[in-house]
Amino acid sequence: MVKNSKTEKPRKREPLVLELIPENLLREPIEYIFADHYRMRQIIATMDRFLIEGIYAQAPVDDDVIADMAVIEAYLRTELPPHIADEEEDLFPCLQRRSPGDHETKQILATLHQEHEEDFALLPSLIAGHEDLLAARPVAARELFETSVVRFVETQRRHVIWENNIVLPLARRRLSAEDMEKIGRKMAARRGLEYPA
Ligand SMILES: [Fe+2]
Ligand SMILES: [Fe+2]
Repeated sequence: MVKNSKTEKPRKREPLVLELIPENLLREPIEYIFADHYRMRQIIATMDRFLIEGIYAQAPVDDDVIADMAVIEAYLRTELPPHIADEEEDLFPCLQRRSPGDHETKQILATLHQEHEEDFALLPSLIAGHEDLLAARPVAARELFETSVVRFVETQRRHVIWENNIVLPLARRRLSAEDMEKIGRKMAARRGLEYPA
């Protein structure tokens, strides 16, 4: 059937959808973290697009943009903090224990730790800015919000590359089955989930 091109709405962009990570993957916590990084990259790509297209300049009216923005806000508020805690409290200390005398790894983990600290410093303004826009209010601290988004997008992109290409492969090689189970159990508890049988 031929559609009337005048009344048809322009084709919409794929919505931002973060797939749920299967709980079973908690038995392979490094792969769980790897899967989380894929979600993080989707968030960063959308924030970057919003920046480039000037979407952060005023409260959105487009339903698709509002939906994507709500996904970003929820991710920053509820998912990023436990992800960072997985790394800071479980993965990094364990990898460090399994890498005695490896100063290069120690240095890399120290840099990534500093970036986690910076994430926590940026999060309040990132979350508040998204909340303002979603509530159709002008962003209260607009300049701080925009510089925070720029900085976050910039650092996260590189941060995830380092974690995926250096830290996770090292952890796959150096951590024992017991380490993996311990980390997986802590990650499950952090999310109020049962460790998968
Ligand atoms: Fe990280
Ligand atoms: Fe990470």
